[in-house]
Amino acid sequence: MHPFLRPPTMAAFTAALLIFTTILTTTTAHNITRILAKHPELSTFNHYLSLTHLASQIDSRTTITVCAVDNAAMEDLLSKHLSINTIKNILSLHVLLDYFGAKKLHQITNGTALAATMYQATGTAPGSSGFVNITDLRGGKVGFGAENNDGALTASYVKSVEEIPYNISVIQISSVLPSAAAEAPTPAPSQQNLTVIMSKHGCKIFAETLSTFHEAFNTFTDAIDGGLSVFCPADDAFKAFLPKFKNLTMSGKIDLLEFHGVPIYNSIPMLKSNNGLMHTLATEGASNYDFTVQNDGEEITLKTKRVTAKIIDTIIDEQPLAIYTISKVLLPQELFKGEAPSPSPSPAPEPAAADAPEPPKKGKKKKKKVAADAPADDSDAPADSPDDDAADDNADDSDGAVRFNGIVGMVLALVFGFLFL
Ligand SMILES: *[C@@H]1O[C@H](CO)[C@@H](O)[C@H](O)[C@H]1NC(C)=O
Ligand SMILES: *[C@@H]1O[C@H](CO)[C@@H](O)[C@H](O)[C@H]1NC(C)=O
Ligand SMILES: *[C@@H]1O[C@H](CO)[C@@H](O)[C@H](O)[C@H]1NC(C)=O
Ligand SMILES: *[C@@H]1O[C@H](CO)[C@@H](O)[C@H](O)[C@H]1NC(C)=O
Ligand SMILES: *[C@@H]1O[C@H](CO)[C@@H](O)[C@H](O)[C@H]1NC(C)=O
Ligand SMILES: *[C@@H]1O[C@H](CO)[C@@H](O)[C@H](O)[C@H]1NC(C)=O
Repeated sequence: MHPFLRPPTMAAFTAALLIFTTILTTTTAHNITRILAKHPELSTFNHYLSLTHLASQIDSRTTITVCAVDNAAMEDLLSKHLSINTIKNILSLHVLLDYFGAKKLHQITNGTALAATMYQATGTAPGSSGFVNITDLRGGKVGFGAENNDGALTASYVKSVEEIPYNISVIQISSVLPSAAAEAPTPAPSQQNLTVIMSKHGCKIFAETLSTFHEAFNTFTDAIDGGLSVFCPADDAFKAFLPKFKNLTMSGKIDLLEFHGVPIYNSIPMLKSNNGLMHTLATEGASNYDFTVQNDGEEITLKTKRVTAKIIDTIIDEQPLAIYTISKVLLPQELFKGEAPSPSPSPAPEPAAADAPEPPKKGKKKKKKVAADAPADDSDAPADSPDDDAADDNADDSDGAVRFNGIVGMVLALVFGFLFL
């Protein structure tokens, strides 16, 4: 019997609570792969969105417009035999970072607009080449052109495929937007400057530190061609950790840095489907310097006995290289012995603010108080846990969001429950 048909009981409240928390915590807004799968004439475009990993980037954004082209138009593009990185650039020019439904497209203020695209957002688009010109034309037509293409509006609006205001609008346009800039050969990741890539998106301190340790840096760059995933601690986390880092021996420092690289290319879906132990660049022989990859709902966590970090951003994902920002510094058991941190944050009474040596290059003043007591390299001295918590407390806002959803869910469940009284 349906619980709601009975007089209101705890069961009704519980059911309502469950329903609402499920609705509220499952916030994956859209899935472009699934949207396009309903349209066989767009299947090649859909296939290449997945192949270039643009699909997951599209799914993680809102207020965007995807300009799809049909299979014939994709065949024209594929006949040029471009590299997958170049195809990615071209397709990313077809993802507008604004919401254009059919109505807005036909009623553009002043009849013309420039839309920034995902190609622009990569930071590699020269000049204005990352923008698309959208212009209302006579007879209700809408023209599209890559901005650096002599003002030629080479494609036109065909139809609306799906609109989820104002998260995502998927439209079909008549042809691929030609763009000399996007079609220019993209350097393979191994020729790119690892420090420069990593310094983007709040991952600068780790990158700068790594580049001053040539042995570790070379280990990373040498690994790229064979596949490399880098898990780069966010600036806040690495900055708070620097005093402890300085305290490690030279080989300990190199091990710690190399612990943040995995000699295999891993996309986000690969990490999600490959939970378990992962060898790192610091691993020698069978099983040391490992960490565990584990899904936590929609998130991916990296665990050692001493710390659990979360992946918070993708800096680059271009096979064979993937670089992610993580919320905490990964502490290898081999360098940071001692009891596992307690599951609930233990009270951290330690007031001892170490007079820390300044971070490399940027002699910034350290704001966070970090209790100072990391053991040097191989010593058996136990590291204490409260200080880890202090250094690792940052970037936990998503937990807050989940908690918030739970509270909202509970309130709504109560309201819902009362409706059945
Ligand atoms: C739009 O995106 C937000 C945030 O991801 C999500 O909560 C909401 O449900 C989405 N709206 C629709 C209509 O899918
Ligand atoms: C989107 O849908 C496709 C096909 O149903 C599925 O393989 C993929 O995992 C989905 N992506 C997400 C982020 O749920
Ligand atoms: C429309 O044109 C007017 C006059 O040229 C200009 O001031 C205004 O900024 C334009 N609006 C947009 C949205 O481009
Ligand atoms: C878009 O291109 C058309 C045609 O070349 C041009 O008239 C218009 O000014 C352009 N719009 C913008 C916003 O640059
Ligand atoms: C990477 O870029 C930095 C800063 O621009 C530069 O100092 C360094 O020499 C570059 N390294 C390589 C391998 O190009
Ligand atoms: C560094 O190690 C020494 C000796 O083990 C210790 O007294 C000191 O507090 C440590 N400093 C930091 C910042 O960890």
